[in-house]
Amino acid sequence: MISQEEIAELLTEYDVKKLYIGTIGSHSALNIFKGAKEEGFKTLCICKERDLIVYKKFPLADEIIMVEDFTELLDDHVQEKLRSLNTIIVPHGSFTAYLSTEQLMNDFYVPIFGNRRLLHWETNRELQAEWLKRAGLKLPRTFNKPEEIDRLVIAKLPGARGGRGYILAKSPDSFKRRVEEMINRGLLSRGDLEKIHLQEYIIGVNVYPHYFSSIMREDVELLSVDKRYESTVDAIGRIPAEEQIEVGISPTYTIVGNIPITLRESLLPEFLRMGDNVQKVATEIAPPGIIGPFCLETVVTDNLEIYTFEISARIVAGTNVGIGTSPYAYLKFGEKMYIGRRIALELKEAIEFKRLHNVVT
Ligand SMILES: Nc1ncnc2c1ncn2[C@@H]1O[C@H](COP(=O)(O)OP(=O)(O)OP(=O)(O)O)[C@@H](O)[C@H]1O
Ligand SMILES: [Mg+2]
Repeated sequence: MISQEEIAELLTEYDVKKLYIGTIGSHSALNIFKGAKEEGFKTLCICKERDLIVYKKFPLADEIIMVEDFTELLDDHVQEKLRSLNTIIVPHGSFTAYLSTEQLMNDFYVPIFGNRRLLHWETNRELQAEWLKRAGLKLPRTFNKPEEIDRLVIAKLPGARGGRGYILAKSPDSFKRRVEEMINRGLLSRGDLEKIHLQEYIIGVNVYPHYFSSIMREDVELLSVDKRYESTVDAIGRIPAEEQIEVGISPTYTIVGNIPITLRESLLPEFLRMGDNVQKVATEIAPPGIIGPFCLETVVTDNLEIYTFEISARIVAGTNVGIGTSPYAYLKFGEKMYIGRRIALELKEAIEFKRLHNVVT
């Protein structure tokens, strides 16, 4: 893995007065670019032809590197270009979707805002669960094999696939039936079956809190909260039960957008403590822990129990609901604070205190 020393070495060549904040053009890129510009940085977009329209209509990228495939990010000449422009890369969901964690950890010699070593933890379901449990969070139960299913479960496939091909089942039999259906509909392949993860389905509402772990201010901030707008699961309630059965609908979770949430205040103590505890464990497993944004994916039940089923140790697309401001960002910072800008602010403070090497890896 590329060490923090090697990255610090790269930084000595950087002109910190002329930094570019760069990212792949998708996911939360507009959020990141706007924030960077509001804090006075230049911005750089690694872009595909088909997405270029976004960065033309919202002209927030000062520099655009066109690629045919995002894996070109690893090409020497692209990396060289990024370094020659003094670029700090802000990773988002598309990085691990298009590149492997190994490639990012071993072959990408450009400073990344965030902790590279946690990428590995967040992309591995077992490691993730270990981390969250150690932080004292409540997790849904997991089942080792379909025969063990004794309640409603959600069967998940590896990797961030936006819930595509996920299955709900409440017994070994209904699991088998569902699998066949999904295979017939082309949403699942037989090869996927070995990698399937069976998790207790928590009945409740989705709540995704967005935190920011500041190394400069030694604090974990809660900046915004969202829930997801997912097709088809959010459409099912609009169809009467009888027709649902007739058509044989099973929910899928293709994310279409995000909706901002303001939590009832009595839930804040626990959500705030959860953020602190996750960072505390992170400092133990990969010092200095999470650098910058992270997000928990939770379900809150009707007796207000919070179950966490996933963590992202980076910016998530749900933070886009906070572009401009969110109630929590407003409470702490006043107007115009959001994750993209918070990242840039952290970088600005790091430069000011000559501690840039502490927030990039
Ligand atoms: N244990 C659970 N109980 C209830 N609902 C769940 C559970 N796990 C997941 N879900 C629902 O399924 C959706 C997709 O699940 P999950 O987040 O695991 O998928 P993913 O592949 O990681 O997608 P992404 O990378 O977009 O987060 C969630 O947004 C949520 O609506
Ligand atoms: Mg998820």
